[in-house]
Amino acid sequence: MLRLLVCVSGGGTNLQAILDAIDGGTVANARVETVISNNAGAYALERARRRGIEALCISPKDYAARADFETAFCAAVEERSPDLIVLAGFLVKVPDRLIADFPRRIINIHPSLIPSFCGVGYYGLKVHEAALARGVKITGATVHYVDGGMDTGPILLQKAVEVKPGDTPEILQRRVMEEAEWKLLPQAIDMIANGRA
Ligand code: GAR
Repeated sequence: MLRLLVCVSGGGTNLQAILDAIDGGTVANARVETVISNNAGAYALERARRRGIEALCISPKDYAARADFETAFCAAVEERSPDLIVLAGFLVKVPDRLIADFPRRIINIHPSLIPSFCGVGYYGLKVHEAALARGVKITGATVHYVDGGMDTGPILLQKAVEVKPGDTPEILQRRVMEEAEWKLLPQAIDMIANGRA
Protein backbone atom coordinates (compact mmCIF):
# COMPACT_ATOMS: atom_id res chain seq x y z
CA MET A 1 0.00 0.00 0.00
CA LEU A 2 1.54 3.29 -1.15
CA ARG A 3 1.08 5.89 1.60
CA LEU A 4 0.53 9.33 0.08
CA LEU A 5 1.09 12.79 1.48
CA VAL A 6 -0.65 15.36 -0.72
CA CYS A 7 0.37 19.05 -0.69
CA VAL A 8 -2.22 21.61 -1.78
CA SER A 9 -2.79 25.37 -1.83
CA GLY A 10 -6.31 25.94 -3.12
CA GLY A 11 -9.54 24.30 -4.13
CA GLY A 12 -8.21 20.78 -4.19
CA THR A 13 -9.98 19.45 -7.27
CA ASN A 14 -6.89 17.37 -8.06
CA LEU A 15 -6.92 16.00 -4.51
CA GLN A 16 -10.59 15.14 -5.07
CA ALA A 17 -9.74 13.36 -8.32
CA ILE A 18 -7.19 11.23 -6.45
CA LEU A 19 -9.67 10.37 -3.69
CA ASP A 20 -12.40 9.53 -6.23
CA ALA A 21 -10.02 7.34 -8.23
CA ILE A 22 -9.00 5.45 -5.08
CA ASP A 23 -12.69 4.99 -4.18
CA GLY A 24 -13.55 3.89 -7.69
CA GLY A 25 -10.63 1.48 -7.93
CA THR A 26 -8.83 3.13 -10.86
CA VAL A 27 -5.98 3.77 -8.40
CA ALA A 28 -5.05 0.55 -6.65
CA ASN A 29 -2.77 -0.02 -3.66
CA ALA A 30 -2.61 3.61 -2.53
CA ARG A 31 -4.18 5.69 0.22
CA VAL A 32 -4.03 9.37 1.15
CA GLU A 33 -2.79 9.60 4.74
CA THR A 34 -2.09 13.32 5.11
CA VAL A 35 -2.90 16.57 3.33
CA ILE A 36 -0.75 19.65 3.97
CA SER A 37 -1.63 23.15 2.81
CA ASN A 38 0.29 26.39 3.05
CA ASN A 39 -3.06 28.18 3.12
CA ALA A 40 -5.44 27.76 6.07
CA GLY A 41 -8.42 28.76 3.91
CA ALA A 42 -7.77 26.14 1.23
CA TYR A 43 -10.96 24.21 0.47
CA ALA A 44 -8.71 21.22 -0.14
CA LEU A 45 -8.22 20.96 3.65
CA GLU A 46 -11.97 20.77 4.10
CA ARG A 47 -12.19 18.00 1.51
CA ALA A 48 -9.60 16.03 3.49
CA ARG A 49 -11.16 16.63 6.91
CA ARG A 50 -14.59 15.53 5.69
CA ARG A 51 -13.08 12.18 4.85
CA GLY A 52 -11.24 11.86 8.13
CA ILE A 53 -7.86 12.41 6.50
CA GLU A 54 -5.28 14.28 8.58
CA ALA A 55 -5.25 17.88 7.29
CA LEU A 56 -2.53 20.33 8.34
CA CYS A 57 -1.79 23.95 7.54
CA ILE A 58 1.88 24.93 7.57
CA SER A 59 2.18 28.45 6.20
CA PRO A 60 5.26 30.61 5.55
CA LYS A 61 3.14 33.48 6.90
CA ASP A 62 3.26 31.94 10.36
CA TYR A 63 7.06 32.03 10.53
CA ALA A 64 9.37 35.04 10.85
CA ALA A 65 11.97 33.49 8.54
CA ARG A 66 11.63 31.27 5.49
CA ALA A 67 14.15 28.87 7.03
CA ASP A 68 11.86 28.35 10.03
CA PHE A 69 8.92 27.53 7.75
CA GLU A 70 11.08 25.06 5.82
CA THR A 71 12.23 23.38 9.04
CA ALA A 72 8.63 22.97 10.23
CA PHE A 73 7.43 21.74 6.83
CA CYS A 74 10.25 19.22 6.47
CA ALA A 75 9.77 17.97 10.03
CA ALA A 76 6.04 17.40 9.46
CA VAL A 77 6.71 15.44 6.28
CA GLU A 78 9.64 13.46 7.67
CA GLU A 79 7.66 12.50 10.79
CA ARG A 80 5.04 10.92 8.57
CA SER A 81 7.57 9.32 6.25
CA PRO A 82 5.23 8.96 3.24
CA ASP A 83 6.03 6.64 0.34
CA LEU A 84 5.09 9.36 -2.16
CA ILE A 85 4.60 13.12 -1.90
CA VAL A 86 2.08 14.47 -4.41
CA LEU A 87 2.07 18.19 -5.21
CA ALA A 88 -1.53 18.73 -6.30
CA GLY A 89 -1.71 22.46 -6.92
CA PHE A 90 0.93 23.29 -4.30
CA LEU A 91 2.21 26.79 -5.00
CA VAL A 92 5.18 26.80 -2.63
CA LYS A 93 8.69 25.72 -3.62
CA VAL A 94 9.53 22.45 -1.89
CA PRO A 95 12.60 22.82 0.37
CA ASP A 96 15.79 21.38 -1.18
CA ARG A 97 16.31 19.20 1.88
CA LEU A 98 13.05 17.37 1.20
CA ILE A 99 13.93 16.87 -2.46
CA ALA A 100 17.23 15.32 -1.37
CA ASP A 101 15.48 13.09 1.19
CA PHE A 102 12.76 11.88 -1.21
CA PRO A 103 14.49 11.21 -4.53
CA ARG A 104 11.95 10.19 -7.23
CA ARG A 105 9.32 10.17 -4.52
CA ILE A 106 7.82 13.61 -5.16
CA ILE A 107 5.55 14.24 -8.16
CA ASN A 108 3.89 17.44 -9.36
CA ILE A 109 1.01 18.24 -11.71
CA HIS A 110 1.52 21.27 -13.93
CA PRO A 111 -1.25 22.69 -16.16
CA SER A 112 0.69 22.92 -19.44
CA LEU A 113 2.75 20.76 -21.76
CA ILE A 114 6.20 21.24 -20.19
CA PRO A 115 8.54 22.81 -21.35
CA SER A 116 5.93 25.35 -22.49
CA PHE A 117 4.54 27.83 -19.95
CA CYS A 118 6.38 26.51 -16.91
CA GLY A 119 9.01 27.66 -14.44
CA VAL A 120 9.08 30.66 -12.14
CA GLY A 121 5.88 32.72 -12.29
CA TYR A 122 3.84 30.12 -14.18
CA TYR A 123 1.18 28.72 -11.88
CA GLY A 124 -2.59 28.38 -11.82
CA LEU A 125 -4.49 30.75 -14.08
CA LYS A 126 -1.28 32.53 -15.17
CA VAL A 127 -0.31 29.45 -17.17
CA HIS A 128 -3.53 29.59 -19.19
CA GLU A 129 -3.32 33.38 -19.63
CA ALA A 130 0.16 32.90 -21.11
CA ALA A 131 -0.97 30.08 -23.40
CA LEU A 132 -3.84 32.20 -24.76
CA ALA A 133 -1.59 35.27 -25.14
CA ARG A 134 0.87 33.19 -27.20
CA GLY A 135 -1.96 31.84 -29.31
CA VAL A 136 -1.14 28.14 -28.99
CA LYS A 137 -3.78 25.79 -30.37
CA ILE A 138 -2.84 22.86 -28.15
CA THR A 139 -2.03 22.92 -24.45
CA GLY A 140 -2.40 20.26 -21.77
CA ALA A 141 -0.99 19.01 -18.50
CA THR A 142 2.16 17.27 -17.27
CA VAL A 143 2.97 15.05 -14.32
CA HIS A 144 6.67 15.08 -13.51
CA TYR A 145 9.06 14.06 -10.78
CA VAL A 146 10.25 17.00 -8.72
CA ASP A 147 13.94 17.87 -8.71
CA GLY A 148 15.73 20.99 -7.48
CA GLY A 149 14.47 23.21 -10.33
CA MET A 150 11.07 24.71 -11.05
CA ASP A 151 9.10 22.25 -13.24
CA THR A 152 12.35 20.69 -14.52
CA GLY A 153 12.20 17.09 -13.27
CA PRO A 154 11.76 13.99 -15.46
CA ILE A 155 8.36 13.81 -17.15
CA LEU A 156 6.12 10.89 -16.23
CA LEU A 157 2.91 11.63 -18.16
CA GLN A 158 1.50 14.30 -20.47
CA LYS A 159 -1.87 14.83 -22.12
CA ALA A 160 -2.78 17.34 -24.82
CA VAL A 161 -5.91 19.51 -24.69
CA GLU A 162 -7.33 21.63 -27.50
CA VAL A 163 -7.54 25.42 -27.18
CA LYS A 164 -10.85 26.62 -28.68
CA PRO A 165 -11.86 29.96 -30.19
CA GLY A 166 -13.31 32.25 -27.55
CA ASP A 167 -11.56 30.52 -24.65
CA THR A 168 -10.96 32.63 -21.55
CA PRO A 169 -8.24 31.61 -19.08
CA GLU A 170 -10.95 30.26 -16.78
CA ILE A 171 -12.64 28.20 -19.50
CA LEU A 172 -9.31 26.80 -20.66
CA GLN A 173 -8.24 26.02 -17.08
CA ARG A 174 -11.42 24.05 -16.52
CA ARG A 175 -10.99 22.08 -19.78
CA VAL A 176 -7.36 21.25 -18.95
CA MET A 177 -8.44 20.04 -15.52
CA GLU A 178 -11.36 17.94 -16.81
CA GLU A 179 -9.65 16.45 -19.84
CA ALA A 180 -6.12 16.09 -18.52
CA GLU A 181 -5.24 16.85 -14.89
CA TRP A 182 -7.94 14.87 -13.13
CA LYS A 183 -7.03 11.82 -15.21
CA LEU A 184 -3.26 12.14 -15.32
CA LEU A 185 -2.52 12.57 -11.63
CA PRO A 186 -4.46 9.47 -10.52
CA GLN A 187 -2.94 7.55 -13.44
CA ALA A 188 0.58 8.52 -12.35
CA ILE A 189 -0.12 7.46 -8.77
CA ASP A 190 -1.52 4.13 -9.96
CA MET A 191 1.58 3.57 -12.09
CA ILE A 192 3.90 4.27 -9.16
CA ALA A 193 1.83 2.26 -6.67
CA ASN A 194 1.85 -0.75 -8.94
CA GLY A 195 5.43 -0.76 -10.18
CA ARG A 196 4.76 0.59 -13.69
CA ALA A 197 6.53 3.97 -13.47
C1 GAR B 1 -4.15 23.00 -10.92
O1 GAR B 1 -4.53 23.47 -12.19
C2 GAR B 1 -2.67 22.62 -10.93
O2 GAR B 1 -2.25 22.05 -12.13
C3 GAR B 1 -2.03 23.96 -10.71
O3 GAR B 1 -2.84 24.57 -9.72
C4 GAR B 1 -4.19 24.12 -9.89
C5 GAR B 1 -4.72 23.65 -8.57
O4 GAR B 1 -6.09 23.34 -8.63
N1 GAR B 1 -0.66 23.83 -10.32
C6 GAR B 1 0.30 24.67 -10.72
O5 GAR B 1 0.09 25.65 -11.40
C7 GAR B 1 1.70 24.30 -10.23
N2 GAR B 1 2.68 25.05 -10.93
P1 GAR B 1 -6.80 22.44 -7.53
O6 GAR B 1 -6.45 23.04 -6.15
O7 GAR B 1 -8.26 22.54 -7.82
O8 GAR B 1 -6.29 21.03 -7.66
